[in-house]
Amino acid sequence: MNEVSPSKATEEKEVEIDYLELDKIIEEEFGNDKENLIMILQAIQRRYNFLPQATLKYLAEKIDVPYSQIYGVGTFYATFSLEPKGRNIISICLGTACHVRGGERVRERIEDTLNLNGKKTTEDMRFTLEGVRCIGCCSLGPVIKVNEDVHGRIGADEVKKVLEKYE
Ligand code: FES
Repeated sequence: MNEVSPSKATEEKEVEIDYLELDKIIEEEFGNDKENLIMILQAIQRRYNFLPQATLKYLAEKIDVPYSQIYGVGTFYATFSLEPKGRNIISICLGTACHVRGGERVRERIEDTLNLNGKKTTEDMRFTLEGVRCIGCCSLGPVIKVNEDVHGRIGADEVKKVLEKYE
């Protein structure tokens, strides 16, 4: 490792990185071992809800893996996000069963209700909307998931009430 970063710093989008905490994840939980790269990235994402670029650069130095390789892993797997996500993740099912039962109207209503204007995440970082292929409960379509809560047979008119439950 070439250089020790300050214990805390601020990067883009006001994400404060706690490097002592990051050291704990990388060293104590995963033994500074490049073989654990995926699990380290999962732990970082759990902590920040996405993979801040500064953490990837720091990780590259710590486990002696090129940044480009770590960045590649972060972009390859759909489970990782390099963009900040909202506190609540709304997954809207884009599968056929949900689509034919009005999923598109539900999606439009969510976008309107949250004023997304083509973006995925609300300005206040309260919600991120993501499209997914089949949540696995097609008979309940149209289906959305908010975090781990499944909301089945949801109508466009119910969207507002459902979203109000999430801070
Ligand atoms: S198609 Fe929507 S849950 Fe399967």
